[in-house]
Amino acid sequence: TLVFAADNSLWEKSTLNQILKRGELRVGLESGYKPFEMTAKNGEIIGFDVDIAKVMAKAMGVKLKIVNTAWDGIIPALITDKFDIIMSGMTITQKRNLQVNFADPYIIVGQTLLIHKKDAGKIKSYKDLNNPKYVIASKLGTTGYFAAKKYISKATINAFETEADAFQDFINGKADAFVYDLPLCAYYYSLYKDKVVFLDKPFTYEPLGWAVKKGDPDFLNWLNNFLRQIKGDGTYDKIYNKWFKS
Ligand code: ARG
Repeated sequence: TLVFAADNSLWEKSTLNQILKRGELRVGLESGYKPFEMTAKNGEIIGFDVDIAKVMAKAMGVKLKIVNTAWDGIIPALITDKFDIIMSGMTITQKRNLQVNFADPYIIVGQTLLIHKKDAGKIKSYKDLNNPKYVIASKLGTTGYFAAKKYISKATINAFETEADAFQDFINGKADAFVYDLPLCAYYYSLYKDKVVFLDKPFTYEPLGWAVKKGDPDFLNWLNNFLRQIKGDGTYDKIYNKWFKS
């Protein structure tokens, strides 16, 4: 009888099994969210996510391939198997989680604001910006944009395809505030301390996680145990300190 026959079809189909057979881990990300992923002068994509991806590929015993993909289509690209996993500072939102699965959070961030120095004191939080006289810059399809729409809905929202374009709009004075994940605001603040004020108390709660295709418990199990291991053995802290403490 078939009673004791193991059902290996799940494992056969698992992304993890495909990666091992292929000998290559394909990581989808969108360069531009510093310090998670950015393009170096020589064209190489580097950052916090990339370093974790390197350790991940090594732990699997396979090569690493980075697939730079526009944010706009990054979830469809995962679903249509252009890569195996999204490692791109993606917030685990309940809406995205209807389309993809997420491994456990690897870092918690939230939305913060950069404003112009001249507005210091006048604008103390996102609440003060919720006024038709203000203009907010953020990036389309990100939680920064969603938060602006939800919590600063009375203001005008200028939405851009990239983080850099959104920040340019703000720093050129076309917008009163730049809304984005804390790490990127902290990065821009470090470059423009003389010109901008950083309202660094996050007004949203955002766990970031690696996204994978639905229906793949084997891959998720591996990823969560890998994350627990690197968090416990110092590997994560070493990579974190390299990108966040400088
Ligand atoms: N955490 C934000 C979100 O999920 C922004 C992530 C942007 N990531 C990127 N690699 N450009 O919407």
